[in-house]
Amino acid sequence: MIKVNENYSKLKASYLFADIAKRVETFQVENPDKKIIKLGIGDVTKPLPEACVKAFHQGVDEMAKEETFRGYGPSGGYSFLREIISKEDFQKRGASISPDEIFVSDGSKCDTANFQELFALDLKIAIPDPVYPVYLDSNVMAGRTGTYENGRYQGIHYLECTKENNFLPEIPDTKLDLIYLCFPNNPIGTTAPKQYLKQWVDYARENKALILFDAAYEAFIRNDSPHSIFEIEGAKEVAVEFRSFSKVAGFTGTRCAVTVVPKECMIYNDNNEKISLHSLWGRRQNTKFNGVSYPVQKAAEAVYSEQGQIETRALISYYLKNTDIVTDAMDSLGFDYVGGGSSPYIWIDGGQRDSWEFFQFLLSEAAVVCTPGAGFGKCGDKYIRISAFNSHENVEEAMDRLKEAL
Ligand code: MLT
Repeated sequence: MIKVNENYSKLKASYLFADIAKRVETFQVENPDKKIIKLGIGDVTKPLPEACVKAFHQGVDEMAKEETFRGYGPSGGYSFLREIISKEDFQKRGASISPDEIFVSDGSKCDTANFQELFALDLKIAIPDPVYPVYLDSNVMAGRTGTYENGRYQGIHYLECTKENNFLPEIPDTKLDLIYLCFPNNPIGTTAPKQYLKQWVDYARENKALILFDAAYEAFIRNDSPHSIFEIEGAKEVAVEFRSFSKVAGFTGTRCAVTVVPKECMIYNDNNEKISLHSLWGRRQNTKFNGVSYPVQKAAEAVYSEQGQIETRALISYYLKNTDIVTDAMDSLGFDYVGGGSSPYIWIDGGQRDSWEFFQFLLSEAAVVCTPGAGFGKCGDKYIRISAFNSHENVEEAMDRLKEAL
């Protein structure tokens, strides 16, 4: 008899963004004349930068000729891309990451979900609340949690991000093994100062713990917060970093990301012997992954060209301007919020409103889609998240509709 992985029964019925998409679809069917403005899932709306499109085409042309055709590529990515990433994203910021510590992949979502496979099942795991649901769900699927009760899984140490702690969770005074962090934060939209990240790195070194650092939104940083955890001294021993071309260069549909696993980073076996995490991840990827397509990697490489840099900076500035439109509207409506400015997300305190009710109200009264904070965790119960990925015109219209509805 074929039996199910019982851990799946502990998951909430559907994935947050799939649930929202379904509700929006139902609303549209019932209200065919309404023009819905989507500020929910962080999906980009602007086309790929021209520099990337050109390189993408060239990559495809190469695949069309016998002399330049390529079959399987290296599972960790072509060296042309790994080299430029190592130089531009890390070495220029004083983080000595070498090209072979960079693993190119088809998305940070899959990498953050898959990485936990390398670890024992009885780890003590710290996960922020609110949080990008993938970190939690992937550990639930693997069987690292108990059941879900009152908005919490048993067996998870929740790092609460609240107004009281300035949305920067306290460094725990207990011993934890695996810590998920994300800055600029999804969903809250806040950045983390260097000194704060240093405390986590020191904690991880003291406790032989590992930090999984999601930096998918680093390109949005406009303050002096670090863009990489590897800007912090000692981080190479205790951290892995995830980055993505999705939001920087509009690759959500094109798929290209990067996971950095430093060679110094060690984990331990039952005999307390050191095991290289870099080798383990390489082994896992070689077995389960055949790499990102050549044209996509060429397109990603073009992000670092002079034209690519101009165009991607313009893209990010465009979306960041939307965060100003949203925060101006929130100021005039008298809502408390954080985020925006150095992140594409704004985290809005709905006061006494329940977040799903607020979501439903904005959908039915304004035909505007946001993301209910409760979908990211218990601490999000009274919040909604607004994403800046849309046109200026749509964001302005959405804010006008909100002002009218509220
Ligand atoms: C989000 O809206 O939180 C992101 O778009 C999700 C993702 O990048 O997978």
